[in-house]
Amino acid sequence: MIKLDGHKKIKTAVFISGNGTNLKSLIKFSLKKKSPIKIDIIFSDNSSAKGLGYAKKFKIKSRILNYKNPKKAENLILKNLKRNSVDLICLAGFMKILSKKFIKDFRKKIINIHPSLLPKYKGLNTHKRVIEKREKFTGCTVHFVNHKLDSGKIILQKKIKISKNDTPKTLAKKVLKHEHIMYPQAIKKIFTNP
Ligand code: GRF
Repeated sequence: MIKLDGHKKIKTAVFISGNGTNLKSLIKFSLKKKSPIKIDIIFSDNSSAKGLGYAKKFKIKSRILNYKNPKKAENLILKNLKRNSVDLICLAGFMKILSKKFIKDFRKKIINIHPSLLPKYKGLNTHKRVIEKREKFTGCTVHFVNHKLDSGKIILQKKIKISKNDTPKTLAKKVLKHEHIMYPQAIKKIFTNP
């Protein structure tokens, strides 16, 4: 746990690719007086990501990334983050994999939310796979990002029961609800504001 001085908030960047419902929950959390974070910027690799609407709504600056050249995209992000003294990256449904070099060069904390009970079901289509394997439980996990996919140290995890008639779609919805609660909790676990 990292203790923060007085009212100083951690400058945070959120990376998205799609709906951005986790982004929305992080923005709402960040606006609370006691929240340890302040969202400085939102990056999306997808110009039509629905989540970009939240940037507009809450007047947070956003940047669209051109990932045709990932190296160039990462260099631009890094420059921006350093210039703005961003200390935390929250990946929230970001569909690109950050390079080993980026993670090393950023040097600050990068965290991610994944819709499974890691280390089980890393990667994509988790809900479909857990149902196919007839699992009784699934869940969601917030973890630190390292150079291996969905493999960094776990910060927080929530176990969720799968019903007999759950489909990948109903399960995704169920898990997402918990994600929205758990992501802020995980951030509170890392940073504490006295
Ligand atoms: C979430 O299920 C998250 O765990 C996964 O991608 C989904 C993103 O949803 N990494 P949203 O864009 O936050 O609505």
